Amino acid sequence: MKQHRAGRRGLSGFAIGTVVASYGLIIFGSQVRVTDSGMGCPDWPLCDGRLAPVLRFHALMEQSHRFIAAAVTLLVLGTAALAWRSRAERPASLRPALAAVGLIGVQVLLGAVTVLAGNAAPTVAAHLLTGLALLGCSTVTAVAAGVRREPSGPGRLAGIGWVAVAAASALVVSGSLIVNAEAEGACPAFPLCPSAAPTHLAVLHLVHRGTAVLAGLALLGFAVHAWRHWAGLAGARVLAGLLVGLVGLTATFGAVSALLQAPPGWQDLHLAGAAAVLAVTVGLAARGWLAAADATDAPGRPRGGQAVPARTEASSEASSGTSSEASSGSSSDSALTTRLRPPSLDR
Ligand code: HEM
Repeated sequence: MKQHRAGRRGLSGFAIGTVVASYGLIIFGSQVRVTDSGMGCPDWPLCDGRLAPVLRFHALMEQSHRFIAAAVTLLVLGTAALAWRSRAERPASLRPALAAVGLIGVQVLLGAVTVLAGNAAPTVAAHLLTGLALLGCSTVTAVAAGVRREPSGPGRLAGIGWVAVAAASALVVSGSLIVNAEAEGACPAFPLCPSAAPTHLAVLHLVHRGTAVLAGLALLGFAVHAWRHWAGLAGARVLAGLLVGLVGLTATFGAVSALLQAPPGWQDLHLAGAAAVLAVTVGLAARGWLAAADATDAPGRPRGGQAVPARTEASSEASSGTSSEASSGSSSDSALTTRLRPPSLDR
């Protein structure tokens, strides 16, 4: 029993470490791009034929990015190994952990192709998108390592949750299209582009802004849904509040970056916000999905606006037969002792 608990703690620790390190790697990757250090090392995997640090600014930036990427790779592999060992107690963490291993493989190859293709914009954009997908998978793994998956039928997560995840993904793809076309400075006006802006580049900005408006509404709708309906779910309101703040900040950074024709610092801030928006959206959706927060058919699930005692960790473990978790009482779902749901649920 102690072994189970230690294994789960190890998994949680590694999974959270992977999220933090992947986020740091994305931000550092942005620094490498905006300081034009992407070709700091002309070869791969060595830098100037050396493994030891090369003491020139651009080379050191690119090399440090590779060192951090190596650390992230080890963390991803360690998380997957621990998820495999804990698969009986935390089955929901296994798939995203294995998906992260696949993504890190793609990412390493893309990193190499980026250097060998002379830092071509499309490979840089693909490298960023794969990095963000890796951050998403690591976030789901970390959430699933920390909380147990409640049994339930379909409808575990309301449609607005899925729409929000799709919207956040579409938003980062539309942003990286601007970078892909090297059009960062092509639209120094707001909300529309100046008439002198080259049409094909202005279109990319307008598509990104239009996507930001629609996706922003979906993300705010999801945050309001979680705030109103998941009040008893530990951490849900914090994540919902954080999501609202991050969407506002990231949109502001994006607008300032556009107006100032994308100076490096603002690009960094905008990307840091975008990666956080994606991670928090995915984390909140995973939290609700694992707890089956929107399902009405799970045993003990409150219905019709009445306050009903929900499943405690111990009782649900007893019914699902994974007694090791029941005894630990570590899951934050134990906060779900009683909660209210209004009669009409959006799904
Ligand atoms: C929550 C809302 C938003 C998200 C999640 C988001 C996401 C992104 C992403 C992922 C990139 C690619 C960054 C890179 O490769 O370094 C990007 C680029 C960009 N976005 Fe956004 N964006 C948002 C809102 C906006 C808004 C409202 C504007 C302008 C009014 C804007 C303007 C830009 C510009 C100019 C770029 C290229 C330069 C740069 O990276 O700063 N974004 N966006």
